[in-house]
Amino acid sequence: MYDKGPVPGRNEPCWCGSGKKYKKCHEQEDERLQELFNDGHEVLVRSLLKTPADIDGIKYSAEVNKGVLDYVGERIGPGVSTAQIDKWVYDYTVAHDAIPAPLNYEGFPKSVCTSINDVVCHGIPSDDEVLKDGDIVNVDCSTIRNGYFSDSSRMFMIGGVSPERRKLVEVTKESIQRGLAAVKPWGYLGDMAHAVQSYVEENGFSVVREFGGHGIGREFHEDPFVGFVGEPGTGVVLAPGMCFTIEPMVNAGGYEIDMSDPNGWTVRTKDGSDSAQWEVQLVVTDTGYELLSW
Ligand code: MF3
Ligand code: CO
Repeated sequence: MYDKGPVPGRNEPCWCGSGKKYKKCHEQEDERLQELFNDGHEVLVRSLLKTPADIDGIKYSAEVNKGVLDYVGERIGPGVSTAQIDKWVYDYTVAHDAIPAPLNYEGFPKSVCTSINDVVCHGIPSDDEVLKDGDIVNVDCSTIRNGYFSDSSRMFMIGGVSPERRKLVEVTKESIQRGLAAVKPWGYLGDMAHAVQSYVEENGFSVVREFGGHGIGREFHEDPFVGFVGEPGTGVVLAPGMCFTIEPMVNAGGYEIDMSDPNGWTVRTKDGSDSAQWEVQLVVTDTGYELLSW
């Protein structure tokens, strides 16, 4: 049985808190999800679909999440250490009534992930790591405000970067636009994944398999896992109210990664090639999607 939770009477208020009668609000959608489930499709449990109040809560969190990345973007450059970025993120976030989600998350020691050049993700800020001309760096910020999580990341090109690095950063950014264009209510996560993967591979790059996006809301990482390798028409059904991230990690060389760093976090490309990542957070709507953080 599809776990859609308690079903209100048709004339009772909808479970989503819209104030409308159930029959005028989510009834048809719930039935459609039940049918898809019965037909063997992957359907997210209803408790993970976001209500209008949840979406407002996520937007309130995202104000800080976007603000902190703008703040970093105005200051980052050659000579800045990643520990300095961490301090900017921590100070800005707590000054805006929010908490940096990475801090102490499963033992992560800092407030932000900073991943330079061949680091794929989860780089730990450090005083010993100073940005220099030609580097590319991903700054991945995640924010908790009033109980809701927001999560986005951006690449920064430090000084003058090589054409190869610039292309990697730009193709990765555009791959998210291709993925977004494939997000349609009642479509599939695989539609989005396929759009990202084909664009990346057409450009001669590769998509990391082991890490991906995720559902997000009251928790940092909710179901589903969002991969960026896949086939159209496969995977979880894109139900209105689903909130998740698109955050492909794109390698200039092979997609294989190296997770042997003794710090237990820093992930690198296996072949030492460069890697880039951008991340946006969105909610599926009745007509398409709405970006919540970027
Ligand atoms: N921000 C990452 C994401 O996009 C998660 C980082 S977990 C941390 O999902 F502990 F390393 F911060
Ligand atoms: Co994320």
